[in-house]
Amino acid sequence: MDKGILLEMSGIGKSFSGVKALHDARFTVEAGEIHALLGANGAGKSTLMKILSGAYEADEGTIRIEGRELILRSPADAKAAGIHCVYQEVDTSLVAHLSVAENIFLDRMMTAKQRAWLKWRDLYAEAEKLLADLGLNVPVRKKVADLTLAEKQLVLIARVMVEEAKIVIFDEPTAPLSLEETDQLFRIMDKLKKAGIGLVFISHRLHEVFQICDRATVMRDGRMILTEPTSKIDTSDIIHAMLGRSLDDEYPKQEVPIGEVVLSARDLTLGNRVRGVDLEVRRGEIVAVVGLVGAGKTELSRLLFGADEAERGTVRIAGKQADLRAPAGAVESGIVLVPEERRKEGILVKESVLHNLSLPILGQLSKWGVLSGSKEKSNAIGVIGRLGIKTSSAGQLTGFLSGGNQQKVAIGKWLNTGAEVFVLDEPTKGVDIGAKRDIFTIIGELAAQGKGILYLTCEFAEALGLADRILVMCDGRIVKQFLRGEATQENLLYYASAGQEELA
Ligand SMILES: Nc1ncnc2c1ncn2[C@@H]1O[C@H](COP(=O)(O)OP(=O)(O)OP(=O)(O)O)[C@@H](O)[C@H]1O
Ligand SMILES: [Mg+2]
Repeated sequence: MDKGILLEMSGIGKSFSGVKALHDARFTVEAGEIHALLGANGAGKSTLMKILSGAYEADEGTIRIEGRELILRSPADAKAAGIHCVYQEVDTSLVAHLSVAENIFLDRMMTAKQRAWLKWRDLYAEAEKLLADLGLNVPVRKKVADLTLAEKQLVLIARVMVEEAKIVIFDEPTAPLSLEETDQLFRIMDKLKKAGIGLVFISHRLHEVFQICDRATVMRDGRMILTEPTSKIDTSDIIHAMLGRSLDDEYPKQEVPIGEVVLSARDLTLGNRVRGVDLEVRRGEIVAVVGLVGAGKTELSRLLFGADEAERGTVRIAGKQADLRAPAGAVESGIVLVPEERRKEGILVKESVLHNLSLPILGQLSKWGVLSGSKEKSNAIGVIGRLGIKTSSAGQLTGFLSGGNQQKVAIGKWLNTGAEVFVLDEPTKGVDIGAKRDIFTIIGELAAQGKGILYLTCEFAEALGLADRILVMCDGRIVKQFLRGEATQENLLYYASAGQEELA
């Protein structure tokens, strides 16, 4: 093991306002390995990596790189030591109005002394060569603002190469990527690994861990539970270490009676993103809409919630025409949405958990127009308990919750609204496997209460496990329908990518 220990973190402790997030955390990375860092939502993965990348200061413990102890007081200190981070929010690390090449060589451009002798043609040529070496096809003169999210990630990785990184941290990089983009990212991660860089990979998709990682470390409640080569363990070992128990059925499916139609959409259309969509959901029914990234699922969900206005089409809820000119009308009509971009649209990160959970039902929680503090509190405590939201208190700012727990707040806020139809867009993105199961159970309970559920996802396994009916979306259209038990991963992928039944 001592063949090339690059990084060694030991005895790391960290508290946030008296609550301990990390206890005696240990972590090592070897040169040329991809090391998975795993754990349930709130286990402390991002916190540990923020300490490593200089964003947070540890309360105690030591960090060594190649045997030398480091004192990290800022992200600049970490970068100087060769530690780089590719966050999910890549936008914050890139300069949108500069070109790809300028972003790659940002460091060099910032040093005034060197700026004088910057040769633009050389810069572009060098950037082109670098991208070609990485096997990438990104135009070097294009503005970063005009790139896709996946391309932005790749630009950031190219920069990391230029800055001679020793350690690169990837915190949930694959969550927003399509299958092809994920494959491309993995190929590049493999190149970095072969160049002797140590990589840390955080993901809630356990199959990815076995696909690309050499070792895996599992954390639980801020402590290290297990570190093993991935060849010596399997998914159930990881789940057991993560949750402290095993998970017998990943997809708890309740059989509930299916009633009359509660949601019916006809000819919904918006440009070429949503093209003449017809669909129905019955009471008690879970209907999944599957499709690849970019198929139009999010656009469809936004039309159903009145977040965007359709050019054409009608939506009826429980037999009545819905008012979808704005979300307020949609909620009034009985349809609610848990959006994909929870940080931007689903919750208010600068407000408390309590306040987020009260917002949609202020009327219910008030008497004579005055909000009742005790009703608000008991509503929040009820939802927190029911969903197992991990928070130090109901008064905690939602932005301080871990990613998966923020997602539970985004779902929880609608639970007591009396909505008839729940539209959930990729609700399990960034959610750990235990919390996923909790979310599936809640969805099952809503169905059992006679609600209609429309579940939009690019995770085919979830649709197969959960749905009574699956609609496949491709290029803005519903191209195929399967009843429960009829579909397989392969034929879902086939229709989602080809989109033409005749080709079957
Ligand atoms: N700035 C902060 N202020 C207060 N508490 C925080 C802060 N950052 C993290 N925490 C808390 O520390 C704990 C660990 O959070 P962390 O974000 O490291 O979890 P994680 O393992 O990355 O989870 P996820 O898989 O959901 O991203 C959580 O209980 C979280 O609420
Ligand atoms: Mg995290």
